[in-house]
Amino acid sequence: MATGLKSAVLGATGYSGLELTRILLRHPRLEKPVLLLRGGENGAGATDLADVFPELSGNGGYPLHSLSWSALQQQGVRLLFLATPHEASRALVPEALAHGLRVIDLSGAWRLKQAQHRAIYDFQDSDSATATDVTEKAVYGLPELNGGRIASAELVANPGCYPTAALLALLPLARGGLIDETREVVIDAASGVTGAGRTLKRDLLFGEVAEDFRAYAAGNEHRHLPELKAALAREGGFTGDLVFTPHLLPVKRGILETIHVPLARVIDRATAEGIYDTVYANEPCVAVLHGAMPSLKDVVYRNRVAIGVAVVANVRRPRLTVIAAIDNLVKGAAGQAIQNMNVMLGLPETAGLTC
Ligand SMILES: NC(=O)c1ccc[n+]([C@@H]2O[C@H](COP(=O)([O-])OP(=O)(O)OC[C@H]3O[C@@H](n4cnc5c(N)ncnc54)[C@H](OP(=O)(O)O)[C@@H]3O)[C@@H](O)[C@H]2O)c1
Repeated sequence: MATGLKSAVLGATGYSGLELTRILLRHPRLEKPVLLLRGGENGAGATDLADVFPELSGNGGYPLHSLSWSALQQQGVRLLFLATPHEASRALVPEALAHGLRVIDLSGAWRLKQAQHRAIYDFQDSDSATATDVTEKAVYGLPELNGGRIASAELVANPGCYPTAALLALLPLARGGLIDETREVVIDAASGVTGAGRTLKRDLLFGEVAEDFRAYAAGNEHRHLPELKAALAREGGFTGDLVFTPHLLPVKRGILETIHVPLARVIDRATAEGIYDTVYANEPCVAVLHGAMPSLKDVVYRNRVAIGVAVVANVRRPRLTVIAAIDNLVKGAAGQAIQNMNVMLGLPETAGLTC
């Protein structure tokens, strides 16, 4: 049964936009989305999404259209997904809102407050009245935390993939005052190569990545870190230090984060698991494992975070190892965007999703 709601996607020729389009096409309550094309590197010369992804051919076609605000209005589009680079989203969101669209943006363009943006992205507009106004409207789209605010949002800033896993792992402990903030929380995270997008990069060629494993942006250089710190402070009252080291994993999709948490007091494993069970009792997309640790198999192609904990033995001060796994393209991007959309439209939170 369709609600008559029509959405549009810009960026369907990229990895997260394709994932989003696939979910929208099978969503039980939405019309077929309008697919918009820039036609840069990925979609050059394409008129149908099957020109870019031949595996989609034979299903009646997925025409690609140029972006036109008036055409979107005439087609009755109410909701726009942007699966585009930060700079493109930064320019397009104010225009989309001005044309009465609700927007879910998968990029980092609207996740942070102005001062933090200036430090990371060097957006030219950071001081403008429009950017300030749009920033105030943006709701950070982690439904497990912000469901109430997402429901009425005009603009949802979908969280980054690494922060999604880390926040869902750390917030229950932060909110319970269990983290010893005089010591660092250390996050060793590894992502499959689709996390870097579909644009050609020499470092991501099969010959460079296969059978290798390497860190990048070591020394707290990754731009997801300010987003993670801001959300931990805002939602969990945590103001301690983080050490975040991402790694490139030679698989297509999936993120696994091993998080070393200094504890303010001794707790055993059952107590730690019980904290997650309580916090996530009504969250369909969070799987708390008992006596086990997650692996990518538990989460790929699902809109799920899987979390496992172990108490660290033989150390002088109490410490917990928390492992969180997600599919970067699903719970880390497109699936979470659909989960947010469901909340915005008052639909069941998991409609169209496999958690
Ligand atoms: N990949 C992930 O795991 C992941 C996870 C969370 C969030 N994100 C975020 O999601 C966004 C998309 O990431 P991705 O990995 O899917 O990237 P991608 O595979 O490189 O795709 C980018 C898409 O954006 C389009 N595009 C590029 N520049 C544009 C512009 N100036 N105006 C309009 N469209 C433009 C491209 O279209 P053409 O080349 O056809 O022009 C392509 O469809 C990024 O902001 C990324 O940070 C990605």
